[in-house]
Amino acid sequence: MEKLIINGGIPLKGSVDINGAKNAAVAILPATVMAMTGKCVIENVPDIEDVHCLQRILKSLGCAVNKINENTLEIDSTDVNNFNACTDDVRRMRASYYFIGALLARFKKARVELPGGCPIGVRPIDQHIKGFEALGAEVTIEHGAVNVKADKLVGTNIFFDVVSVGATMNIMIAATLAEGLTVLENVAKEPHIVDLANFLNTMGADIKGAGTDVIKINGVKELKGCNYSVIPDQIEAGTFMIAAAATKGDVTINNVIPKHLESITAKLKEMGAIVDEGDDSVRVTVDKKLRPVNIKTAPYPGFPTDMQAQFMALTTIAEGTSTVTETVFENRFMHVAELRKMGAHIDIDNRQAIVEGMPRLHGAVVNATDLRAGAALVCAALTAEGRTEVGRLHHIDRGYDDFVGKLQRLGADIVRVDE
Ligand code: UD1
Repeated sequence: MEKLIINGGIPLKGSVDINGAKNAAVAILPATVMAMTGKCVIENVPDIEDVHCLQRILKSLGCAVNKINENTLEIDSTDVNNFNACTDDVRRMRASYYFIGALLARFKKARVELPGGCPIGVRPIDQHIKGFEALGAEVTIEHGAVNVKADKLVGTNIFFDVVSVGATMNIMIAATLAEGLTVLENVAKEPHIVDLANFLNTMGADIKGAGTDVIKINGVKELKGCNYSVIPDQIEAGTFMIAAAATKGDVTINNVIPKHLESITAKLKEMGAIVDEGDDSVRVTVDKKLRPVNIKTAPYPGFPTDMQAQFMALTTIAEGTSTVTETVFENRFMHVAELRKMGAHIDIDNRQAIVEGMPRLHGAVVNATDLRAGAALVCAALTAEGRTEVGRLHHIDRGYDDFVGKLQRLGADIVRVDE
């Protein structure tokens, strides 16, 4: 078991390069099992624990996976011969559910353990199941695993009851090899939805409308290997924007798509931070006291739930009262108890946190309770007075590539040690 030791109070300065988007990569990698011929060479893959899990799952299915360099994977799925994804790795992460759609599309059958992931809510997969059934699959859940099978998949119209990133991506994957036209309505519009569609189209799929409310997928007969580079990670970039603002630093965040950061940038500006956008960078500086702000999470282009915890950490040191409302997940305030240990004044009223800003947090011994909560605690610790220990690092390792190294190069006093 390892933990982070952070001595706070140092303004971060310099520049940092953002890696590929976790939530795009973790859908693209399972989708490579649909390449019947040729190899997929995927660049800009973040070197994170969720990706390591996916590599092991791909190998267990019969894919040949080669790491070409730190952030490039070559996957040959020609000889996939196992349709059972039932390992600890599958249970450990959320995105393993994309193997259901990918194996169903190519082999018309799959058995995949129910997914894990951050404990931020009930996280049902009923909309995924509704989509698979609408395409013609029979779906059963037995002994903690999802079984799907179909004689054939046939395109149809599907209106999702909730806007779901996972269901939109999974059904888009499954429908690429269905017969005829599938029309998905009330879909998610996150940048990673568009990235997955672009990847599938590069494999030979025919998908239009990703990034809008309606996605149209014309089924094709086969998909083949291709070269593809994953988009930059919106949430990793946003996390460094918060770290820069919290420490009153001056940080240029490179390899980003500023448009994807608009809702984060807007809220930071409202708080008084200066955010300068370049073509593929944003520079965040803060030279005065931060103002309070009201945040409400929503599907893209709204404020991302995956940035809620980090933003809440920032509001704890604003001058006044902020509110943070979580509308996407019902159990996403676990970081509040940990932030309180650092002196934060936060009350919770149902799905709203009311944060009384104070001049400074103080160091404490805290635990990451999920991936983004962990990132939020690191941001809080960087600005706090004194020493903070952050435990349960496996949550942070799931989604941030070289988090500690990047912060050290920005001047942070942060080390990773054995507990
Ligand atoms: C994905 C992201 C996660 C992010 C979330 C919202 C991955 C691997 N994870 O999670 O980082 O926080 O999107 O941007 O990409 N829901 C249902 N039924 C379903 C599916 C979802 O009721 O079948 C509900 C969920 O409980 C939640 C809401 O819909 O309240 C949104 O969930 P969804 O967008 O599906 O999130 P995930 O795909 O789990």
